[in-house]
Amino acid sequence: MRKLVDRPRRLRRSPALRNLVRETKPSPHDFVLPLFVSEKIDQRRPIASMPGVFQLSMQGIVDEAQRARDVGLQAILLFGIPEKKDEQASGAYAENGVVQKALRAIKRKCPEIVAITDVCLCEYMSHGHCGVTRIDDDHFHVLNDETVDLLVKTALSHAQAGADLVAPSDMMDGRIGAIREALDADGFDQTGILSYAAKFASVFYGPFRDAAESPPQFGDRRSYQMDCANADEALREVALDIEEGADIVMVKPALPYIDILWRVRERFGKPTAAYHVSGEYAMIKAAAEKGIVDERAAVLEIMTSLKRAGADIIITYWARELAEWTRN
Ligand code: PBG
Repeated sequence: MRKLVDRPRRLRRSPALRNLVRETKPSPHDFVLPLFVSEKIDQRRPIASMPGVFQLSMQGIVDEAQRARDVGLQAILLFGIPEKKDEQASGAYAENGVVQKALRAIKRKCPEIVAITDVCLCEYMSHGHCGVTRIDDDHFHVLNDETVDLLVKTALSHAQAGADLVAPSDMMDGRIGAIREALDADGFDQTGILSYAAKFASVFYGPFRDAAESPPQFGDRRSYQMDCANADEALREVALDIEEGADIVMVKPALPYIDILWRVRERFGKPTAAYHVSGEYAMIKAAAEKGIVDERAAVLEIMTSLKRAGADIIITYWARELAEWTRN
């Protein structure tokens, strides 16, 4: 009898055959579109380092949310740029803050879109750090517990304004448990928490800080964001957030941390998100503009890789385009 031999090439002969046996098939439902709303503008404003990304006005963000739904996306992630910043980040938890207003307006027009809000203080603090700071002997500290109190107020005000998921991105210790408790106590037991659980201190957030107008005025974020050298520590951080009540856990940035993504998905089996961040976006955009890579092919390869590595949800500035590119 003839010996049977494995011939993988048979399955690669045509596009239709390759499609049939493809293991990883990104679809519009995998992607979340980040949007920036600013209280200071009435016309959308381009972000120089991120071609195709804009700060939006209040009307603009409602239109964008509708457009996102119309192209087949089901979720957006909101960031706010307030009129005024101060040392208590009061704009972050004001009842009529920029995100709270945007949420109500979006939910009035498109109630079905999943509205996720970034819960952080850096955009609202005059010094641009993610928490309350104190400086002694030329050394600054971010005060963990004082910051958590403000994050809780912020998350609660987002839930009250209609957020489906709140996404704390600050990396303070104990904030997930504190937010979960406050949401439950206020009747928001159905509001979920997407935790930025393994958030690394990264050079790739640079363009975002232009977009959100939140560069730190002194120091850096390394005392509260993770060291890129540490994988086991990332797993411990994720475990803590899950124990405290996170419904979805996120790894950020995405591609340089794809090993962490894989381990988190394998170890915990929780819905897992990857944030393909501003600098990752800007690099491909810049290369594509120079004709070095084909943008669509590069983006599809990256997103397929992230999904293959375990991402159930991918937050990306290409979400709108990806909804089209992955529809069939
Ligand atoms: C807020 C926050 C940041 C990002 C998301 N939420 C910036 C930071 O931590 O410095 C970055 C997102 C991106 O780069 O696309 N803390």
